[in-house]
Amino acid sequence: MADYRLEASWSPVEGSFGRFTFTLFNLSAEPLSGFTLACTSLTRVADEHVAEGATLKRRVANFHEYSPPEGLIVKPGGSWRFTMEGLTNGPKHVTAGIKSAYLTLGDGRHAPVSFGDLMLDGMEQGALPELLPKGEVSEPYSLLPWPLHQALRPGDMPPIALYPAAGTSAKNTRAVAKVLALYQRLFPDDDVPFALQPVEGGRQIRFKGESSIMDAAYELRFTGKEIILGTDDASGLLYGLISLAQLLHGARHEPETFQFPVFGTIADQPRYEWRGCHLDVSRHFYPVADVKRLIDILAWNKLNIFHWHLTDDEAWRLEIKAYPELTKIGAKHGPDEVLLPQFGDGAEPRSGFYSQDDVREIVAHAGMLRVDVVPEIDIPGHSTAALLSLPQLVERQEAPGGYHPEPNNPNNALNPAVEFTYEFLGKVFDEMLQLFPSQYIHIGGDEVPHGSWLASPLCKMLMEREKLAGTAELQSYFLRRIKAMLVERGKKLVGWNEVSHGGGVDRDGTLLMAWEKPEVGIELAGEGYDIVMTPGQAYYLDMAQAEDWGEPGAGWAGFTPPEKTYSYEAEGELPEELRERMRGIQACIWGENFASRSYFNRLVFPRLSAVAEAAWTPFLRKDWLRFAAIVRMWPTL
Ligand code: ACM
Repeated sequence: MADYRLEASWSPVEGSFGRFTFTLFNLSAEPLSGFTLACTSLTRVADEHVAEGATLKRRVANFHEYSPPEGLIVKPGGSWRFTMEGLTNGPKHVTAGIKSAYLTLGDGRHAPVSFGDLMLDGMEQGALPELLPKGEVSEPYSLLPWPLHQALRPGDMPPIALYPAAGTSAKNTRAVAKVLALYQRLFPDDDVPFALQPVEGGRQIRFKGESSIMDAAYELRFTGKEIILGTDDASGLLYGLISLAQLLHGARHEPETFQFPVFGTIADQPRYEWRGCHLDVSRHFYPVADVKRLIDILAWNKLNIFHWHLTDDEAWRLEIKAYPELTKIGAKHGPDEVLLPQFGDGAEPRSGFYSQDDVREIVAHAGMLRVDVVPEIDIPGHSTAALLSLPQLVERQEAPGGYHPEPNNPNNALNPAVEFTYEFLGKVFDEMLQLFPSQYIHIGGDEVPHGSWLASPLCKMLMEREKLAGTAELQSYFLRRIKAMLVERGKKLVGWNEVSHGGGVDRDGTLLMAWEKPEVGIELAGEGYDIVMTPGQAYYLDMAQAEDWGEPGAGWAGFTPPEKTYSYEAEGELPEELRERMRGIQACIWGENFASRSYFNRLVFPRLSAVAEAAWTPFLRKDWLRFAAIVRMWPTL
């Protein structure tokens, strides 16, 4: 148990974003004096604020340090209470408060402080709403995503196991072994769906090449005594076998509801080629094992893109051998480090990054499951960690507070007029090329703050020379150079929707992700960009799922119950002639709110599967109650 505990509550105040009340309890045997209290909080105290009982000594992004009144002594068993009014936004949920806390004692040591979620003053937290109904099915098959076409007759008893017919090729046997291993990782307590040799009471799978079907498509024919799996590529083979494993999984788990087919066919193919899931590992670091398990879950749901958000203001998580500082400095947070604690880092310094060997392991794991790993280096904005790690990136003559984005550090964008920026990124891309076989590199491009670079003398010269007016055109200048660097390296540019600002980049081979709202995607398609829809209002899995205070998650895009994510149609108003520009959809998992595994699981599941079904299944074949009945048997992290 920590010797200290901090409790925080919030109360609304008419005409402002409300007030925090903090109480620090001294649970140690010694009086506490001559200290400061640091905490990281998702909701920040604004520069303009009214403090009672403390002063805000400093704030750096989400890091806050408070000093008690001169001479304060907190006795053993006693407490210190203070309030802060003047916040940068109004908290909406329990997760909007403290993410970590510690004390800095008179002798410079740092002592851990325990804490809990943000309480709402004077209100019962109440029971959380039930988000997923029991569900019901009209056809007894546990397939999720639901297939394009099926006509099946159920059997009474599921087969004991499925096994490759005699004479099956090594390639197909390996595919069975691969899905068997996937199943064992996801459901270690369950009976296995496949065996490599004939099994009494089992059923054989015969493999057939079907050259007339699409990439990733498969056909299953059930004849009573065997199953014939027809495919034309490795993805179709994988998905056909996963479907068989899914059918058996349901028939064994809930035999009153689900059965294994004995006759009939499934003819299936994905609706979209881009079926993505993003993970922000900057705000919260996930160890290799977690990333691999998430990729297993993506494959089980037939998602095929893992968009790996490797850098942001808070941390740079990818080892780059040319610049070891990026991870030595830029992936380490601590009270006395260059990067102060943010989002969950406390008294102990903490470092987390992926070595190049880790990356190779993850990429190989994903490749085996036909998941393409699309790495993201978020530039030019969201670059505090890189800028603090490599001071050569900073323009010395630029005023330090030239622009001040919230919640990040001032001047958090790479400077397009600093030539070293391009030398640096060239080396980063060169190393990424060796690690990531994907044809895509995601370069971010989001949320460059208004007014960025305008106080930079080098940018002023660049603007004059290149006839650029303002931040957006400077950004476009920068991104066009980045695009050329990627093209030179044989890669396609993926970015967030703001890449189009200020003139954007060459449309050819560029893919933009519409996140701010769905209308943006339609505009981008109209401008000639290929698009992936990932609207915050439906597909951001960090968004809270109900309005209730007690429901964890972010609130900037409202709240998103699983049914909303499920029923959302991303093509919505997209005109027919722009349909071919839409390459797919994607779920995004931003990290700020995920302090615990239990919140991760509550927020990400079942909404991740809802996006997976939207990515695969035609809109008219979706069925919320069927989804609800099946998804409760699906794995979580
Ligand atoms: C984003 O949510 N800033 C892409």
